[in-house]
Order: sequence, then C-alpha cells, then structure tokens
Amino acid sequence: MKETIRPHGGTLINRLVPEADKAAAEQKAAGLKQIPVSAWTISDLDLIAVGAFSPLTGFMIEQDYHSVVDTMRLSDGTVWSIPVTLAIEPALAATIKEGEQIALTGEEDGITYAIMDVTSIFTVDLQNEAVKVFKTDDSEHPGVQKLLSRSSTYLGGPIELINRPKPKKFEEFYFDPADTRRLFVENGWKSVVGFQTRNPVHRAHEYIQKSALEIVDALFLNPLVGETKSDDISADVRMKSYLVLLENYYPKDRVFLGVFPAAMRYAGPREAIFHATVRKNYGCTHFIVGRDHAGVGDYYGTYEAQEIFSNFTAEEIGITPLFFEHSFFCTKCGNMASSKTCPHDKSVHLHLSGTKVRQLLRNGECPPPQFTRPEVAEVLIEGMKEPEYQV
Ligand code: ADX
Repeated sequence: MKETIRPHGGTLINRLVPEADKAAAEQKAAGLKQIPVSAWTISDLDLIAVGAFSPLTGFMIEQDYHSVVDTMRLSDGTVWSIPVTLAIEPALAATIKEGEQIALTGEEDGITYAIMDVTSIFTVDLQNEAVKVFKTDDSEHPGVQKLLSRSSTYLGGPIELINRPKPKKFEEFYFDPADTRRLFVENGWKSVVGFQTRNPVHRAHEYIQKSALEIVDALFLNPLVGETKSDDISADVRMKSYLVLLENYYPKDRVFLGVFPAAMRYAGPREAIFHATVRKNYGCTHFIVGRDHAGVGDYYGTYEAQEIFSNFTAEEIGITPLFFEHSFFCTKCGNMASSKTCPHDKSVHLHLSGTKVRQLLRNGECPPPQFTRPEVAEVLIEGMKEPEYQV
C-alpha cells in the first residue's frame, strides 16, 4: 500500500492482542489484580491500542507526565500536549508494586479490557496540572472539574488490549487509524483535512470545511463521540444531523464521516495540538482550527488555539493546521464571511448565542437558515424532545 502521512512519532502503534492469543491473555488476566476503570479510561485504552494516540503505548509514566505538563513534549522530545493518565485511589495503588502486571476491568460491565505493565506509580499536584494544561484551576471549568474529581495517584506503563469497547450505536462509522489510512489511499486522496467537532455542523462549520475542501482532496468529518459535558448535544442526535447534512449538501465522493471515540477535555489550545496530532495518526494531512477550538466559556482567547502552534516547527507537528477566522453570515454581503472577507459592521452580521439557539430548538423553532440548514434544525428539534434536554 502506498503510504500516506507518517504517524506521529513515526510508527502506528498497535497494542491489540491478536485474536489467536486472546483466550490465553484472558486466562492470564484472570490471575492478576483486577483494577476497575471508568468508561473514559476504556476509551483511552482503545485509542492507545489502535494507534490513534501514537506514539503512546500506554498510560504516561512519571517522566513523560512531567515533561508533557511542563513542556508539551514527551521526554524524548516528541510533541504531546495532553496528559493521558490512569488515576487510581491511593489505597488501591498501595497494593500494587512497580513491575507488576494488572488487569484493567470495566467498572460497569466487569469486562477485562487490558493487561498493563505497571512501570511507574506516582503522585501528582492536580492544581499544577490544571493550571498548566487548562490554564485555570477554576473548578467550574468542566475539564478541571473532571481532573480534580479524580485521584492524584497515577499508574504508568504500557498496555495490551484484550477486548475492545463495543459502540452502542452507529457502529458503521467507527474506523481505526489503520482503516482510515487505507481508505484514504484507496480513494486516491493525497490530501485530507480533518475536522473535529462536538457540535452539530452549523453554517459557520460548513463554511470553513468547504473553504478547506476547495484546496484539499477530501474532508474527514470526525466528530468526537466520547464523554462530553452534560449540556453538549448528545452524540446520537449529532450523528443524525451530520448524516442529513452530508446527504443534502456535501459531495459524496470527497467527504468521509467517521467518529472519534475520545473524551472531550475542553483544554482549548493544548487540546487543539492534541486533536491535530491524533488526526495525523488517522491519516489526515491537514487539520482545521477555527475560533476558540475545544474551548469552553471564556477561558481561552478566540485565537489562542491557533497561536499555540507557533511553539513548534512544521516538521514537529507534521500535519498542516488550517486556521480560520471567526465566521458568520453577513446580511449585507448575503453570504458567509469572516473579518478577512467582509467589510461590514458587526451590526449586520447574524449572531446567535448557543443559549439562544438551544432555546429556539427546545421551543420547536428553527434557527434562521443562514445559521443552520433546515434539515439539520429539524433533526435537532426532534432530538431536543428527549427528556435529557427538558430542563
Ligand atoms: S470543538 O470543541 O470541537 O472545537 P465545535 O464543534 O464548535 O467545538 O468546533 C469545531 C471546529 O469549528 C473548531 O475548529 C472550531 O474552532 C471551529 N469553529 C466553530 N465555530 C466557528 C465559527 N463561527 N467560525 C470559525 N470557526 C469555528
């Protein structure tokens, strides 16, 4: 097969136990200490195992952790911006020794997911991690809140995945990096732009995606479907909205929809670097970073997630970021635009806050078509009838 872009760190990691060795691995795991892990950790395990987090082969050891938190690099110098760690209760950690193998089992389903070689057991300063990674230790920040709710004792070391988490829905849109790399080549795409999203695709998203599509061969629409904060629209409703949008408004032979089963960290700038390097592992050559990428509230400046890329050379990042200004519909221009293309005053730009859009949808009203395609709005209105949105 012809190679696409090189994975981050040079090699696509594979930590999946081969099918033929599964029974023996299960048997071995049964004899090890059983450590219960959350859905978030299981998602990290799976993404490590299939190489989405290449070059990581497991949860970070102490040296890599400190290096990532302080310098946004692994201890060997490879760019890596977000700690990927396994937090466990200190009392449980006290029963484990460095050099021991443990079995990681789902705390909800009891399934044995992985065997881990524990090579590092360490305690961290969570406040320091919060300030360096999230740029705040405000417990109102959803990423910080999550971090501070976990133990400050971490286990590090390589993992081997025995059983993979099963998608609850939309299984046909789950692709591993090895699959997407092959499919991009088979389609003859030399350049593919990755698009991260945790929202329905509104007209501003569509505008930047299609602007990118004007210069690359294909778009990899790669919505994050792992854990998100409770007021984000559910992955289920979003998937329906993506399908109806692609069906009606996108060229079928140049767009590829596949989910990104990772948890959302809401780490703004640092998460933009993480999102880009991971999409490189999926075979993307380009990655869209718009306004306030992976941001939440007003913790980050509008373009901070773009500016952070200037800390690294193009070779170190490998994937080419495509930066987009805040885009909007201009009623005078009569089209989507940004401050780079529109000369008119803000007062003639269509602006709807997230709260306003949610309110409209909850009342069964479509936002203006200049904001959201009517087909998408219909799916969202239907989705908003679910009890979880009736607050
Ligand atoms: S994110 O947390 O996944 O970044 P979202 O799904 O809203 O949130 O954004 C997906 C991508 O579109 C990000 O790169 C973001 O910066 C970009 N984006 C969202 N809205 C706009 C906009 N109005 N103008 C420019 N870029 C935008």
